Order: sequence, then C-alpha cells, then structure tokens
Amino acid sequence: MHPKSYYIHTIGCQMNVSDSGRAALSLTALGYVPAPAIEQADLVIVNTCSVRAKAEQKAFSLLGQLAAVKARRPEMVVAVAGCVAQQEGERIRKRAPHVDLVIGTRAIHRLEALLRRLPLHPRPLVDIAMNNPPDAFAAAPPGGDAGAISRFVTIMRGCDNFCAYCVVPSVRGPETSRPPEAILNEIHGLAAAGVREVTLLGQNVNSYGVKEGNCSFAQLLEQVNAIEGLARIRFTTSHPKDLTPELIDSFARLEKLCPHIHLPVQSGSNRILARMNRRYTREHYLDNVAKLRNSCGQIAITSDIIVGFPGETGTDFEATLDLMRQVQFDSVFAFTYSDRPNTPARDLSEKIPEREKRERLQVVLALQESVTGAKNQALVGSVQAVLTEGFSKRPAAGTAQQSSRKQWTGRTPGNKIVHFLSADPSADADSIQPGRLVSVRIERALAHSLWGCLERSDASGLP
Ligand code: 5AD
Ligand code: SF4
Repeated sequence: MHPKSYYIHTIGCQMNVSDSGRAALSLTALGYVPAPAIEQADLVIVNTCSVRAKAEQKAFSLLGQLAAVKARRPEMVVAVAGCVAQQEGERIRKRAPHVDLVIGTRAIHRLEALLRRLPLHPRPLVDIAMNNPPDAFAAAPPGGDAGAISRFVTIMRGCDNFCAYCVVPSVRGPETSRPPEAILNEIHGLAAAGVREVTLLGQNVNSYGVKEGNCSFAQLLEQVNAIEGLARIRFTTSHPKDLTPELIDSFARLEKLCPHIHLPVQSGSNRILARMNRRYTREHYLDNVAKLRNSCGQIAITSDIIVGFPGETGTDFEATLDLMRQVQFDSVFAFTYSDRPNTPARDLSEKIPEREKRERLQVVLALQESVTGAKNQALVGSVQAVLTEGFSKRPAAGTAQQSSRKQWTGRTPGNKIVHFLSADPSADADSIQPGRLVSVRIERALAHSLWGCLERSDASGLP
C-alpha cells in the first residue's frame, strides 16, 4: 500500500509557519509523506490567516480551487486550520461545503486524534475548542527536519491587548505563556541536534510570563543565551507599551541576542493611537527607540504600519510619515486598514475610502524604500557576521560577479539577507557548512538584500 501523502499551504504569520511545521512533523510520525503537488495530496491542510481581509480572501480562493480537485478526487481530505478556521467554525460549510475538517488555532495539536475520528464523523468535523490542551506547547517530534539551522520556538499563545482593529484576541484566545523549563528543554534539544538560531515566538513576548508569574522575558532570554551550541537568538513580536528597561538592557548584555527588534508602531498620531487602543504615545515610542539605540548602537528596528484607520486625517497621516523619518526604520510592513469581524474598529464611523488608503500606502512604501536603500547602502564596505543558511538558488541578478560559482546565503545580525561568494574562485563551495558563522565584506546593496564576499570562515571579533 502506498503511504498517504499530505500538502500544507500556509498563509500568514510566523506562528502559522511554526504550527504548519509541527503539523508536518506529526504527519511524518503517522507515516504520511509530502505530496509532490497539492492536487495529488491525500490530505490538504490550508493553514489560514484572518488578520487582514486580503489574507482571508486568499484562503477562500485556494479553497475554491480545491473544490474542483475534490470533485474529481472525493477521497481527498480538505482541512482548514488557523485563524479563519477558528473564526468561521461550522459556518465554513456555507462558503466551502467541501471542507472535511476545521482545525481551530488551539486544536492543531489534536491533529492525529482528529484524523482518527474523521472517517466516522459527518462532515465537516469541527474542533475550535479554545481550552489549552495539556500539550499545547509540546515540542515538535524530534528528527523530522534534521539539518535545520534556524527554528521557531513558541513561547506564548494568544493576546490580551485588544487593539481596536485586531482579530487576534478573538481567534487566538487569551494570552498564555509556556513554562520556562519546557522552553529551555526544547531549545537544549534543538541545539544538541545542530540548530544554531532560535526565534522565540509570541503575539507580545514582552509580557511573557507576567500572568503566570514565570520569570520575565529578559530573564528567559538570559537563560537561552547560556545554552551551548546556540549561536543566535531572535524574538518576535513586541508591543511598545510593554518594552521594559530590563529587555532594552538585554541587547547590550547578551552576546547571542541579535541586534534587531520588530516594534510595531502602527501610527505616528497620538489621536489615532488612542483610537486604536494601543496605550502608548508617539513620544513614548520615540523614547523607546532612543533607549534601544543607546543600549545597542547598531540595533535594527523594524515596524508595522496601518494606513487609513477610521478617522485618520491628512494631519494624522503626516504624523506617521514624520515618525518614520525620525526613526529611520530598517524596514516596515505597511497595510491598508481593513474591517475584521468582532473588532471594535469595525463599528467606528469615518471610514477612509479604499482609493485614499491605497494612495497613503504608496506614500509610506516609497518613503520606506528610500530609507531602506540608504541603510543598506551604508553597510557597503563593512564586514558583517553572517549565519550561513545554505546555497542561494540563483546568482544575485545584476551583479557584476554573477557567475556559475556557487553562492552562499545567510543573514546579518540585523536580519538582512546576504548572498556571498568566496573571494578565491578555487575555494571549495562545500568547505563552508550551513550553520557556520562567517565574516562577509558587503560589496553591494540590492533592493531587498546585500551582496558580498567571504572575508573569513569565522566571525570572531565581530558583534
Ligand atoms: N487592518 C490592517 N492591518 C492590520 N493589522 C492587524 N489588523 C489589521 C487590520 N484590521 C496589521 C498590524 C499588525 C500586523 C500583523 O497586521 O499592523 O501589526
Ligand atoms: Fe493584535 Fe494588538 Fe494583540 Fe498585536 S498586540 S496581536 S495587534 S491585539
């Protein structure tokens, strides 16, 4: 008998990427193999995002395409996981009647049991229970992705902040932190298996453990920093209102903590920040930025921005542009506001017309492009510590050095992607293994990455 095959399509944030990775490992443990294409899979999981209307549309459009496949191959199991699954539950039947399984945000850990129950159950089988199963944070089964250099480690789930535009608290439930011992055990195991970098994940890692009375997030980082074999620590995402002096200080103290923070500001206008229920001011945010840069001169700061929140005037929007000019973010994710179900902002008046929102978005993107370009350009000539991830798929287009030689790829401490060659053309491409920290001289800044030359096959002496 052929083994069953699976295909997971992931939309959305790193939490979904991480959950999909875990689901894949559970399926491997059950004897499933990856399908070569979605149409051929015995089990398709669409792991969905509903944070913005566009992401939700993407999920339903893929489900629509799968309806045709399912009509040809009725034995194919179609599962929907993640935020849209949680949001819609039974209702998904109306828009996607061919869905067999609805796996809510806290049910992905019950995948094995759900698949077992499925054959006997009328469709769809829905599990959107919000209770935390005892294994909600269980480490992924070991060995499934041998050779991984970088892994996500979930340290919390859910969110208690209720920003006015955000669907997360309703689809991901209340904030819950994982015990520190479990986190440290998992990372010890990963490091022993050769993982060099971990990214600690949560909707708001700055409030890690506060509810449970665990150690603080900064104390957790300190313990992760002591784990042997690990080279780099990253985390995401942070809420500006909860950024503590202790955490700011960690960037100066912990040598494995990468100098990068994603600190979503959303708006530069105090009036809009208040309407968004963000509970900080522009001045507080700028003060945090100054403190972060004081603690760690080379820290990269990235952000999220929403344009066209209900009631955003031209003056409010100007305040956002002004804040961007002041901070000089390394990069931003910018979005037009969209109404989401069960959020207070949906009921606000003074909605901004779509065309106006799109125009504002273009202005934000153009401003950021020039800042990012200048920041990347400023790195030309510097030597950066790069964690080698593997070979680039194709040579960096438009570079004079474009050649048939193998090209490595990796990231700087500030999370910028670097493609690099060895200065010596006869150097054996395999002499550098993925996972190695090397020194790379940056020679060229491209739009979304950097290009450089290997300087040394270690990174000693570099920050
Ligand atoms: N409309 C537009 N953007 C949103 N985000 C969250 N909710 C919405 C919404 N309703 C953005 C925020 C958040 C990022 C993950 O998505 O900027 O930080
Ligand atoms: Fe959403 Fe705000 Fe929670 Fe972030 S902090 S997940 S934006 S409610």
